[in-house]
Amino acid sequence: MSLRPIVLHPDPRLKKVCAPVAAITPEIGALAEDMLETMYAAPGVGLAAPQVGVLQRLFVMDCEKAPDAPPRPVVLVNPEIVWRSDALGTYEEGCLSIPEQFGEVTRPAEVALRWTGLDGKQHEEAFTGLWAVCAQHELDHLDGRLFIDHLGPIRRHMITRKMVKYKREHARP
Ligand code: NI
Repeated sequence: MSLRPIVLHPDPRLKKVCAPVAAITPEIGALAEDMLETMYAAPGVGLAAPQVGVLQRLFVMDCEKAPDAPPRPVVLVNPEIVWRSDALGTYEEGCLSIPEQFGEVTRPAEVALRWTGLDGKQHEEAFTGLWAVCAQHELDHLDGRLFIDHLGPIRRHMITRKMVKYKREHARP
């Protein structure tokens, strides 16, 4: 397992529609392990493959917040939303690819997802609360959409300007 560098906005890799994962291979398993390690280290609650420069449809998340609860890592390959609630919820979102920037995004409060697990089997589960926010935010990444694309153009441009500056200041030699 190893940490992978996180791609920072603005970057063309974060704007691409990712390709379906063809098969659950050992490489996909290793990628998912690396993504979980990278996510926990950040720390974050979700990480999508394009955020580590892999343009394939998978993401990882763990929104278990209770301090005494064991971790609950979930790996979702080729995820799709099969149901959305009419009820909406608003949450102040952030993103590991857009550090130190936050914005309120309104989305369906509950969603049901279907995906392939690392076990190669189909899974289906309904998510609420932070899990629902995170699942939709990460699924957006697989379609080249960032949380700032849900904000108005002025706010989006302001955050992007700040990120250009942030990347200049944190440039890896
Ligand atoms: Ni994100």
